[in-house]
Amino acid sequence: MLTRMPDDSEASRVPVELTGVPETLLWNLYHRAVATRGPKPLLQDPEAVEVVGRLDHRFDALDGGDAQRSAEWHAMRVRTFDAEVRRFLDARPGGTVVALGEGLETQFHRVDDGRVRWVSIDLPETIALRRRVLPEGPRQRTLEFSATDPEWPRHVGATDPVLITAQGLLMYFPLDEVASLIERCAHRFPGQALVFDATSGWMRAARARNDAQRTDRSSAEWLWSNNAAVRSRLAALPGVAALRRLPTAYGRSPLFGRAFPTLRRLPVLGKRLPDFHAPVFRLDFTG
Ligand SMILES: C[S@@+](CC[C@H](N)C(=O)[O-])C[C@H]1O[C@@H](n2cnc3c(N)ncnc32)[C@H](O)[C@@H]1O
Repeated sequence: MLTRMPDDSEASRVPVELTGVPETLLWNLYHRAVATRGPKPLLQDPEAVEVVGRLDHRFDALDGGDAQRSAEWHAMRVRTFDAEVRRFLDARPGGTVVALGEGLETQFHRVDDGRVRWVSIDLPETIALRRRVLPEGPRQRTLEFSATDPEWPRHVGATDPVLITAQGLLMYFPLDEVASLIERCAHRFPGQALVFDATSGWMRAARARNDAQRTDRSSAEWLWSNNAAVRSRLAALPGVAALRRLPTAYGRSPLFGRAFPTLRRLPVLGKRLPDFHAPVFRLDFTG
């Protein structure tokens, strides 16, 4: 746990100078904080609340007036990732989580079992900010690399139990780069796994409509979305043993807490429902 109390004084706030894809981490951080502070919290993420308080940024401009709804949607994805990381740590105590494009994620603090080892990988400008507000603890390492750089895997022990995560990252890479990254991970970490989320076709279309009406949004583009052809391609990559969709954590609203999960379980209709939130997948590498 961080011991520092939130500090909202203007003078001591940390400036934020991110653009493009790195800037998108602010949306995620803010909505984790909102999901923690809400009337029925969906997350326990006091570190996110604290970091929001420390940054010099107009976070309220990010929510388009509906922060609670965005926070619920986002918390469902975050909780789906957290559940998979906890499963890994239960099965492989002391294992290593490699978080690609980790931004200002505070997942380490949410899932820490006292033994996990953690490697955060991100671009230099993001890591510089991360180091200021989320300094490394003794079991954490922070590395400045592009996730697509073939060098970073050499900094992670090839024989350790490893779970690689890529939350809110792969949709910003062309699909060919995603495929190369997966192949490299499968080659370097046989028998291990990668957990990632994708956007859905529905989400991409909704975002494009929304962006057309706004000028304050980062220019980062989602370059592909989940569909059967994409899943077949990724599942057939050399070194990939299996690709499966993870069960999405429930939300709290009538729509995401009850109606949607119930409809999803229906045999035919359930499979045809569009994804209103990010599907999360696990790729297992051959041993
Ligand atoms: C949407 S944010 C997600 C941050 C974090 N995973 C989360 O869920 O809060 C995208 C992140 O990807 C990082 N990023 C962008 N391009 C990257 C690259 N080529 N390699 C590694 N990280 C990258 C950004 O700096 C940013 O932290």
